[in-house]
Amino acid sequence: MRYSGINGTGGYLPAKVVTNKDLEKMVDTSDEWIMERTGISQRHVAEEHETTTSMAAAAAKKAIEASQLKPKDIGMIILATSTPDRAFPGTACLLQEALGIRNCPAFDISAACSGFVYGMTIANAFIKTGQANHVLVVGSELITRYVDWKDRSTCILFSDGAGALVLSAQESPGIMATDLHADGRYKDLLYAGCPYSRDNVSPYIQMKGHEVFRKAVNALGSLVTQVAKENNLDKDAIDWLIPHQANHRIIQATAKKLGLPMEKVIMTVKDHGNTSAASVGLALDHGVRTGQIKRGDLLLMEAFGAGFTWGSVLVQY
Ligand code: ACO
Repeated sequence: MRYSGINGTGGYLPAKVVTNKDLEKMVDTSDEWIMERTGISQRHVAEEHETTTSMAAAAAKKAIEASQLKPKDIGMIILATSTPDRAFPGTACLLQEALGIRNCPAFDISAACSGFVYGMTIANAFIKTGQANHVLVVGSELITRYVDWKDRSTCILFSDGAGALVLSAQESPGIMATDLHADGRYKDLLYAGCPYSRDNVSPYIQMKGHEVFRKAVNALGSLVTQVAKENNLDKDAIDWLIPHQANHRIIQATAKKLGLPMEKVIMTVKDHGNTSAASVGLALDHGVRTGQIKRGDLLLMEAFGAGFTWGSVLVQY
């Protein structure tokens, strides 16, 4: 039997940070309010010279190096982003060129904050069916350029960065289960427009925060309960929950549903903010590089985002 497993991971965050104290000078808000409602204390903001591709390349190089592979070994690139550098070609092609890789399939996927778990799920399918041996999955977002820095309800949340991993073929699992969902009826609760489309909506992020919060808690609660049931997992079996880092209250509610103590949850939201499709990959890389996540650990990765989209990956590291 052929399976896929996490080989190496990588991450990149721009050096520039905007703290809650900085935001107090820009909009009517406070460090206390932001910390209490979101758990975010700072967000990373790309400099002018940084791009979705440059951040993806920095994270991808680390993931390939950690896998003890060379760029030429990569057989497919899947890049999740809602903030591509060009409408076309896909940022995955720009990344392929930046890494000096020749002639492998490379494509973008757009699933907002769920992009990384969508990407892992697609990569897993290609590996299991023997169509690729090493797939580079990257989530990269330069989302702060879609933020209206005068809108206190959204500018406190979002952050730039990239998370990456190499998924490789192996004889034992690896990825044990994947589960993806989408419901386009909620498209108007969280969106940003395309400047040249006739959709006529703002290019800045628009969000009904309270409704998004409620839907995220409900969808993720049902999702993790279902994953645990279908895979006969009791709460002690999961070593780490690696959630999308949007809001500490959403994460706490999901951990509670699973009966997991917060010590078993990788938390980066305080320092990383919400990096959308990069967030789960960045959190995984953080857990690996800080030595929290060890080989053999059972990881439940999950995400929820615009669409709405949501999903999970259960994987033995
Ligand atoms: N500082 C101070 N006050 C604020 C701020 C702010 N930055 N933003 C909003 N407020 C005010 C509102 O104007 C409102 O005031 P009012 O009662 O006088 O009208 C009050 O605070 C309460 O507003 P709510 O929107 O109801 O506040 P809530 O407790 O829901 O928190 C938040 C807002 C943090 C946005 C929350 O709804 C949330 O996190 N939602 C999830 C959104 C999210 O994570 N989106 C990311 C993409 S999807 C995902 O990744 C899951």
